[in-house]
Amino acid sequence: MADAPKKLHIKTYGCQMNVYDSERMAEAMGGEGYVLTDDVAEADMVLLNTCHIREKAAEKVYSDLGRLRPFKEAKPDLKIGVAGCVAQAEGEEIQRRMPLVDLVVGSQNYHRLPAMVKAVDAGEKPVDTEFPAEDKFDHLPQRPVSARPTAFLTVQEGCDKFCAFCVVPYTRGSEISRPVSKVLSEAQKLVDKGVREITLLGQNVNGYHGEGPDGDWGLGRLVRELARIEGLERIRYTTSHPNDMDDDLIAAHGEEPKLMPYLHLPVQSGSDRILKAMNRKHSAEAYIRLIEKIRAARPDMMLSGDFIVGFPGETDQDFEDTLALIREVRYGAAFSFKYSARPGTPAADRPPVEAAIADQRLQALQALVTEQQRAAQLAMVGREVSVLFEKPGRLPGQWVGKSDYLQAVHVAGEGIGPGSLRRVRITASAPNSLAGELTAG
Ligand code: 5AD
Ligand code: SF4
Repeated sequence: MADAPKKLHIKTYGCQMNVYDSERMAEAMGGEGYVLTDDVAEADMVLLNTCHIREKAAEKVYSDLGRLRPFKEAKPDLKIGVAGCVAQAEGEEIQRRMPLVDLVVGSQNYHRLPAMVKAVDAGEKPVDTEFPAEDKFDHLPQRPVSARPTAFLTVQEGCDKFCAFCVVPYTRGSEISRPVSKVLSEAQKLVDKGVREITLLGQNVNGYHGEGPDGDWGLGRLVRELARIEGLERIRYTTSHPNDMDDDLIAAHGEEPKLMPYLHLPVQSGSDRILKAMNRKHSAEAYIRLIEKIRAARPDMMLSGDFIVGFPGETDQDFEDTLALIREVRYGAAFSFKYSARPGTPAADRPPVEAAIADQRLQALQALVTEQQRAAQLAMVGREVSVLFEKPGRLPGQWVGKSDYLQAVHVAGEGIGPGSLRRVRITASAPNSLAGELTAG
């Protein structure tokens, strides 16, 4: 009788980049006979793919590791691995703090995971957080058949911007873009497997400068080339920095119908003083002018952003400037965070804003953003949009998909299935989703 397949449980924290990486790790371990399980209790191996961006995210990893202790006691050969940005940042320290951890693998070394698992079998406790010379993507197995109509595709990694609060330049290293040919062939393979929407990923994705057949290509050119792939209907990208939003990419938003009218463009603060202290290298005014230019190219562009409140030195006036910027831009969605001091970053040693004040500011900012998000959702009612359907909804006959603007849309109708792209009239809005009906066309 053949051995039963071994079971791997992966928990993913943080950004979409980690979601992509978890899939690649699952494939690498698939080659070793592991299948995925959602149930920790039946797992032979548990991998935590971690996030180091804020203190809470990093501490969560340690509390989750603590929760794995009874499972390890019940099944001593259970393998426990820590991957991702906490692994990258803390390396061996993780095993010192949590001896039950068998292996620690940094974000550039997933292709070495199978070898590391063998080392664990041999009684070792491997840690690999080097930035290797080889490209991990070249050493990972082919992506298997995807049942989903949407996929992420990493085109760029790392960041050279060094915002004063951020660990990414340290955990993910300097900016590297994958060559155009590799991106195009991976995209073509995804489309051949039924993917109709691709989200290009990178910590600084619009800083993409991949090697092309005739010199380096920017993201605008890459998007235009991807758009020529027959069967690929939608292209998105995330996350972007305002200073890398070049004219060609902005023009592509006006010219390329497959490029979706939704842009995540974090600004972090609306105060020039704080932007300077954050080392963002742009003013609030420059950001607003940039948004105007993008909306001139694509008037229906939906914007989302990230904001940090309580950055060291932030005064009431600085915070008011942030609210003023939000009022001027009008976001469809926004993510806001209380500043969290990260060891090793330039801002970590600066005197913090009082926690209660930061809490108040976070609440005020979130109230404003929620109001804008509601308004944006309500403004959709009566409009016709295209919806790419992904999965069945909760009600019988109902399907859920995403609008061009990345809003969840619920529709009941004939002939819908995963991957159907249909025209829908929006009939009702809720804070986090829309309802609609198929149009005749
Ligand atoms: N504290 C709070 N928020 C942070 N972010 C990044 N670093 C920190 C930090 N130290 C936020 C930024 C970024 C998002 C991914 O996380 O807003 O855009
Ligand atoms: Fe972090 Fe700034 Fe780089 Fe974004 S641009 S990853 S916030 S350092």
